[in-house]
Amino acid sequence: MAAKREYFGSRAAVIMSMAGSAIGLGNIWRFPYIVGEHGGAAFILIYILATVLVSLPVFIAEVTIGRRSRLSAYGAMSALRPGKKTWRFAGILAIFIPLLICSYYSVIGGWSLDFFLRSCTGEFVRSEPDEVTSIFGSFISSSRAPVVMHLLFLGISCFIVGHGVKSGIEKFSKISIPVLFLLILGMAVYSISLPGAGAGVSYLLKPDFSQIDAKSCAYALGQSFYSLSLGMGAIITYGSYINSKEDIVGSSAGTSLADMTFALLAGFAIMPAVFAAGIEPGAGPGLIFQSIPYIFSSIGTELPILSTVISIMFFCSIVVAAMTSCISLVEVGVSFLFEKFNISRKAGCLLLFLLCGGLGVICSLSFGPLSGYTVAGKNIFDIFDWFCSNVLLLALALLVVIFVGFVMKKEDVREEITNGGLNTRNKKIFPFVYFSIKWIAPLAIVAIFITNIIF
Ligand code: PFF
Repeated sequence: MAAKREYFGSRAAVIMSMAGSAIGLGNIWRFPYIVGEHGGAAFILIYILATVLVSLPVFIAEVTIGRRSRLSAYGAMSALRPGKKTWRFAGILAIFIPLLICSYYSVIGGWSLDFFLRSCTGEFVRSEPDEVTSIFGSFISSSRAPVVMHLLFLGISCFIVGHGVKSGIEKFSKISIPVLFLLILGMAVYSISLPGAGAGVSYLLKPDFSQIDAKSCAYALGQSFYSLSLGMGAIITYGSYINSKEDIVGSSAGTSLADMTFALLAGFAIMPAVFAAGIEPGAGPGLIFQSIPYIFSSIGTELPILSTVISIMFFCSIVVAAMTSCISLVEVGVSFLFEKFNISRKAGCLLLFLLCGGLGVICSLSFGPLSGYTVAGKNIFDIFDWFCSNVLLLALALLVVIFVGFVMKKEDVREEITNGGLNTRNKKIFPFVYFSIKWIAPLAIVAIFITNIIF
């Protein structure tokens, strides 16, 4: 089995592929609306702090487990600590969570794909601003189009994973991530240049700490975890493809920096435009799907060609970002099926397509024909999202840091992180990294759990 295992080809490939997993709808769709709901600049500062102090150590812990075990997220922990039921359970969680997330994540991927196609036909630019905001609502509540788009999006992602780590994932990420940065940078410059955008820029830059409370801190850390694909088995799996000479701290920090930068750029691409259009920044999950077409439609009256080109760029960025993340979710399942049942990569992709595709259809229909099925006001899609992001993801992240901090031998962790003592910089910072993994991260995760339960 070991002979068949593929590795990433270079440091850049490691960072691009891990950044491909991290950068996604969490950055473009989720980050701006969560910032909007929690008061702007002050929230961003807490988010940056949470990423450096807590998420980065958790990221390093996941990569360490993956590379040490050279196994999928399912087998990794129980192989490093055989015979213990808890770690078998953690392995099962690490397969189960990405499967569930993939199901509903690809539904939003399908929405993005649909909006991308609409922007290519110039629909937003042709429509009146008032009409354009209703496109989203009527699209997601219909029963056919969102299902078709979800299956198409998932099908393309599975197709890429089917081509393997090096010629599929690595190749796609190495091209798409730099392109994505350029696209979002272009969007940010354009958005800032809109008349009336200044209020949006100061919203993102001038902190107002009176808006910060325990709940917004919990949201900041939750967002940071989600954005870095933590607690979902994806980074453990990618860690297992990193060669033994690679600097774990360097590539984890590089990925976190890329992810944070991208989220901030997405904030600058969206918020100034939202303010320029006079839209409420706390408008929630529909923020980008409603406000952005509105903006393109308003501008389109005077500058139809420019507006069409930029709308295509914008939705193209979302589709590509969502796809590289979806790929990492599918990869977790594929590597598990290969390891445990010797199922080939291509057959594994097909199996996952059927499974996640089926579950996703239910999620997609929960905005239309199945919208009557709710629990505490949440439809099936919301339940998937809430349960994964607020319960399962935190549970697995907690198990991961406890595993590295208390179960693995400290010497083994040191050996991985310092490349057997050869990396002098990592040797110096190891005590801080280890302390954060062992104490700061678990306490912060427990604090979020409690805050989520109380508020
Ligand atoms: N980090 C991704 C994003 O920000 O959109 C979402 C994600 C990808 C979550 C991969 C989980 C995962 F395994």
